[in-house]
Amino acid sequence: MNHYQIQDLESYFKAYRASVDHPEVFWESIAKENFLWKKPWNNVLSWDFEKPEIRWFDGAELNITENCIDRHLSTKSEQTAILFEPNNPAEPAQHITYAQLSEEVNKMANVLKSQGVNKGDRVCIYLPMIPELAYTVLACARIGAIHSVVFAGFSASALSSRINDCDAKIVVTADGSFRGAKTIDLKAIVDKALKESPQVETVLVAERIHNGTPLKEGRDHYLKPLTDEASSHCEAESMQAEDPLFILYTSGSTGKPKGMVHSCGGYMVYTAYTFKNIFQYQQGDVYWCTADIGWITGHSYILYGPLANGATTLMFEGVPSYPDFGRFWQIVEKHKVNQFYTAPTAIRALAKESTDHVNASDLSSLKVLGSVGEPINEEAWHWYNEQVGKKKSPIVDTWWQTETGGILISPIPYVTPTTPTYATLPFLGVQPALMDADSNEISGNSVEGSLCIKFPWPSIARTIWGDHKRYKETYFTAFPGCYFTGDGASRNEVGYYRITGRVDDVIIVSGHNLGTAPIEDAINEHDEVAESAIVGVPHSIKGNALFGYVILKNQEDNTDLDFLQKDINRLITEKIGPIAKLDIVVFVPGLPKTRSGKIMRRILRKIATKDVSNLGDTSTLLNPEIVAQIRTIVGV
Ligand code: WTA
Repeated sequence: MNHYQIQDLESYFKAYRASVDHPEVFWESIAKENFLWKKPWNNVLSWDFEKPEIRWFDGAELNITENCIDRHLSTKSEQTAILFEPNNPAEPAQHITYAQLSEEVNKMANVLKSQGVNKGDRVCIYLPMIPELAYTVLACARIGAIHSVVFAGFSASALSSRINDCDAKIVVTADGSFRGAKTIDLKAIVDKALKESPQVETVLVAERIHNGTPLKEGRDHYLKPLTDEASSHCEAESMQAEDPLFILYTSGSTGKPKGMVHSCGGYMVYTAYTFKNIFQYQQGDVYWCTADIGWITGHSYILYGPLANGATTLMFEGVPSYPDFGRFWQIVEKHKVNQFYTAPTAIRALAKESTDHVNASDLSSLKVLGSVGEPINEEAWHWYNEQVGKKKSPIVDTWWQTETGGILISPIPYVTPTTPTYATLPFLGVQPALMDADSNEISGNSVEGSLCIKFPWPSIARTIWGDHKRYKETYFTAFPGCYFTGDGASRNEVGYYRITGRVDDVIIVSGHNLGTAPIEDAINEHDEVAESAIVGVPHSIKGNALFGYVILKNQEDNTDLDFLQKDINRLITEKIGPIAKLDIVVFVPGLPKTRSGKIMRRILRKIATKDVSNLGDTSTLLNPEIVAQIRTIVGV
């Protein structure tokens, strides 16, 4: 029985049962019947969440680019694979066919090889949303090099720490990028980063803004002359299913980002299968995910998942507000987009603007609307449903993570009845559990707890690059025998899941995961700062805003606090990027701490949100008097 595309609720429940009762049989049939393998597996699954070790399709060999490109060439060579919509609407869109994609990826693969990149080497990609980004990612996969894409909004310092963590010797970048009315000099950021990453031998530079960026002799090369010369045939490397495909960094509870490692085989199967079902993609549809390829959503649901299904995937270089707040809708009309996938923060920002922007475009092509990255609030959900979907396009509220590789909890459109703010039901093969504080599973419905997953799915990250111990501690220790997501969730009376938000030290701002620790580390590097603590406070567009409590080393009466606040944000921008800037900074004489020295963030969060009716027992604090002092400063 092949459940490749689920089309009604009864078959979902039937397939779900089969996927849980006999996971190996289920995934074996999906994998065998829908993908191209160079060699079959010896074993579908072996796993141990204690070690932890997870292996899917062990012994199998494949190349994901043969699945995403080559196998479509006989039937779809002239079909658009990637539809590139530039930042400037006056610049023509590019319809990159599967034949052209094949040529470009093969050329780029040969360029990488000629620069000495071998199977297993790490390639750092710091590119804006231009076609070269897609070509480079896929070229790495073609030759078995491990790509590490760093979002091109990250600072030089964040870039260099990511380059160093995985010891990349090559960086692929661009001279610059267009973002709305602005241009950003990306190459200058790379030059700065590489002062801290001297091991990088080669920098390849795509030209986008033609700013004549200086090239460092012997290290930097423009890409185009190299690709022009390269052959458009490059044999796809045979990869083991469990070989790493890529590393993607995500924030964590310490200052160092976690390089999540994804595998070739399981990742391919799961992203392709979820894409097909969760967007109900039909041949000929135009699918658009507005994420950046620098995040997992872009990896899985702009590139790999859609391309493995031979889809047409739209890649947008710009921002939703340029040249005006109707840009998304103009693009939907222009390219007759059928599936549209975005983040709640974008929906909220657009909902704030006049509905004239939405109504000016013909959105009748839309069949499915997706949401990802943070909980979608009820107001945003209804606006999306009414204004964009005209109540005809189901909303798929897709819950997942960088670590999960693909969507784990989501409605299947036209199959699962939706409820605002609920991600609804687990995808096939996914076994969620809600846990209480004593690590016991909470059974039944109408309950709430910490969200865990009890059984592996094919695209679970296999480790943290260079730090398997941290992988175990972060995900497999709090609830022994389970993968812990870091999220809280509730399950309603019909068994639908609703994600309530992070229960750890990660704050999601405008859909970006930000660990409190790296931001605090950045602030603490300021000459005048002794210590700091960050909490999240609700924000009408960004979801959360950052609220910082800062202790200065010396505070004189004439200290210029406005200047210091700006200077702290300047430092955060330099160390991490503008996405991590604080909205509010208060200067305090101390922070509430437990006797073991741990900052009581719960209290800080309550003060920041002006919810001080129930601060709990503060008498056991090391310094209980500080609470009243902070309240006075914040004014609550
Ligand atoms: C949050 C993004 C509620 C959640 C794919 C998760 C969500 C974190 C949803 C992962 C959703 C993602 N509803 N919360 N539909 N989707 N999240 O790694 O807290 O950037 O743990 O992956 O985003 O963010 P990441």
